[in-house]
Amino acid sequence: MLRVVVMVSGGGTNLQAIIDRVADGTITNTELVGVISNNYDVFALERAKKAGIDNQVVSPKDYATREEFNEALLEKVNAYKPDLIVLAGFLVVIPEKMIDMYENKIINIHPSLIPSFCGTGYYGLKVHEAALARGVKVSGATVHYVDKGTDTGPIILQKAVEVKEGDTPKILQQRIMEEAEWKLLPAAINMIANNQ
Ligand code: GAR
Repeated sequence: MLRVVVMVSGGGTNLQAIIDRVADGTITNTELVGVISNNYDVFALERAKKAGIDNQVVSPKDYATREEFNEALLEKVNAYKPDLIVLAGFLVVIPEKMIDMYENKIINIHPSLIPSFCGTGYYGLKVHEAALARGVKVSGATVHYVDKGTDTGPIILQKAVEVKEGDTPKILQQRIMEEAEWKLLPAAINMIANNQ
């Protein structure tokens, strides 16, 4: 069984997609051993609780320095002994030490077709705002391995999603989640769990 830790910062719809696909058997050989959030009071934590998954908050606000936060984060992650760490809307820069320790064992979902609209400053709705401002006709989502750059690691899966006339960032975000993110991330986990 692949031991998976999911890291979240917000609503957790990608976490929910993973929970649902494990529950209905679409993702096999996988155990969701923990959910870690950097924010208190986010709905992702409710989703973890409802699914009976161990969950914790590691907030930078509780530590005097970034180094202390990074150490605490790594400690919590290590305690789960994960085979795979899934960044599902986790909007924190992953400490270098964690990337070294979990080489090719951390994956991320990004809401664009990398290498477009990615890197520092591109996260959440900002990605869709930038894509619409540029006038793109196609966007999508990407699942990739995490390396020391921002959104630069090897790509595992991508799916294109049509941009429609009159789209707002929120409407586009929702369509990309429904048509791409909620499918790609579970599919990537299942591939890794089954050595594909
Ligand atoms: C998702 O759209 C995810 O792709 C994005 O944050 C959202 C989290 O939603 N991640 C990034 O922008 C990472 N650069 P969720 O909490 O409902 O899963």
